[in-house]
Amino acid sequence: MARAKILLTRAWPKAVEAELASRYDVATNPTDAPMSPAALAQAMREHDAVCPTVTDKIDADVLAAAERAKILGNFGVGFEHIDLEAARAKGVLVTNTPDVLTDATADIALLLMLAAARRAGEGERMVRANRWKGWAPTQLMGVQVTGKTLGLVGYGRIAQATAKRAHHGFGMRILYHDPVRAPADVEAETAATHCATLGELLAEADFVSLHCPGGPETHHLIGRDALARMKPTAVLVNTARGPVVEQQALAEALKAGGIAAAGLDVYEGEPAVPDALKALENVVLLPHLGSATIETREAMGMRVVANLDAFFAGDPPPDRVA
Ligand code: DGY
Repeated sequence: MARAKILLTRAWPKAVEAELASRYDVATNPTDAPMSPAALAQAMREHDAVCPTVTDKIDADVLAAAERAKILGNFGVGFEHIDLEAARAKGVLVTNTPDVLTDATADIALLLMLAAARRAGEGERMVRANRWKGWAPTQLMGVQVTGKTLGLVGYGRIAQATAKRAHHGFGMRILYHDPVRAPADVEAETAATHCATLGELLAEADFVSLHCPGGPETHHLIGRDALARMKPTAVLVNTARGPVVEQQALAEALKAGGIAAAGLDVYEGEPAVPDALKALENVVLLPHLGSATIETREAMGMRVVANLDAFFAGDPPPDRVA
C-alpha cells in the first residue's frame, strides 16, 4: 500500500522527523522559512496530511484547496490560527498537542514573573554595555515575588501548573478567574480562590499571569480599562496569546507607571514587537519560547505522530479539536 504523504510546514526536531519518515512519505522544510498562503494551499492539494504550527494561518481560502488533505496535525496546543469551522465544512480533521507543553510553559511564566519583578533584563543590559560600576545599596531594586498574590486569568492545565510552582515554591496566594470554576480538589492543591469577575482579580493581584486561549472572545481582554484596574505596583505576564493584550495600552501604562512591569512571551502580529515596548526598561521581552525545550518540542512532535498514526489506522485521533 502506498505510504501517506505528509507535509511539515516548518523544521521539526530531527528525532520526530525521523520517526515520521519511518512510516510516511514526509516532505520537510529544511529552510524553516514560513510558507506563503499559496504554498499552504498547494500543500492541501498534494498531501494527505499537513502539519502546521502557530506561524501558519490556515484560513478558509487555504482550506478551500483541501482536495487531498484530510487532516491537519497541528504542532502546538493553541489552534486559533486554524479556521475550525472552515475545516469542519471541508471535512478536514484537526488535532493539537495538549499536556506535553504544560510544564515548559509554566516554567516560562515563572521566569517572566521573576525577571520582570527583579529587573533581570535591565541588569543584563547594564552588564553587557559595561555600564555596571559595582554593587550599590539602591541599585536596580525590584519587588519581591515570595509571599505575593498571583492572579491567573484562565485556569486550565498551564495556569494550574503555574499556580503549583508559585504557591509551593514561592508561598504565593493564588487567585484565578475562569468562566468555569475548577473542582474543589483542584482549588485545594494550591488553596486557589475563584474570582467571579476579572476586575476583582486585577484589583487584588500583585502579579497577573494570562493563560486564556486566543481568539475573538479574549481579544484585547487586557486593554486600557483592565490595566487601569491593576495596582501601580503590579506585574503583568503573558505566555498565552499576544492579541489578549492591547500592546499600545500596555506600553502607555508601563511608561506612565500605571503598572510596574511586564513580562511578555507572545505578541499581536508576531514576530513584530512594537517599538513602544522595546523602548521601555520595565518590560522583559522573549521570542515565544514557552514550549521551547528539547524534551517538550520532541514530545509535541511525537503527539502529532500519535494523532496521524491513529487517523491513518482508521481510529479516532486522541487530540482531535475539530
Ligand atoms: C502552542 O503550542 O500553542 C505554543 O504557543 C507554540 O505553538
